[in-house]
Amino acid sequence: MKSAVRAVYPGSFDPITNGHIYIVERAAAIFDEVRVGILVNLQKKYTFDVEERHAMASEALSHLPNVVVDHFTGLLVDYMRQWEAKVIIRGLRAMSDFEYEFQMALTNRQLAPGIETFFIITDAQYSYLSSSLIRDIFKLGGAMDNVVPPCVFRRLRERFPALSRREE
Ligand code: PNS
Repeated sequence: MKSAVRAVYPGSFDPITNGHIYIVERAAAIFDEVRVGILVNLQKKYTFDVEERHAMASEALSHLPNVVVDHFTGLLVDYMRQWEAKVIIRGLRAMSDFEYEFQMALTNRQLAPGIETFFIITDAQYSYLSSSLIRDIFKLGGAMDNVVPPCVFRRLRERFPALSRREE
């Protein structure tokens, strides 16, 4: 019997956006199991801690039965080996993503030749989107409700209450 093909979609997901969700949905239609691996880098300051990022991603992806949300520290390839995953999923938006992704894919191949990076092109409507852009908009009192799922929108408003003050 053919064994299940496991893929990991790693990232910061600070927070998860509709662009990320689109990539997971497409990956889940191809691979048997997809694990969303939220990076915990102790050197980095996140807007949302790992529990919050995990909770938002789990809620936003609960409609996908073959998707699991998890988090990891250290090297991605070590995490992949531990879970016996052979495929790294990364989303590509514009050409500007390419250089960083190319470098990361070749580094991961050097570290673990048996692991493949698989790129999925984002939907055109999300090509300009990033978690940092969305965080900045909410920090500055703005809001965009069509770029993040409702559970993320709610948490962004709680974290940056300037918006609710402006609307009242
Ligand atoms: O969403 P991001 O922040 O662009 O994701 C970057 C991520 C998490 C995929 C990358 O930083 C990563 O894999 N970090 C884990 C450490 C590692 O394995 N580094 C070597 C590969 S370049």
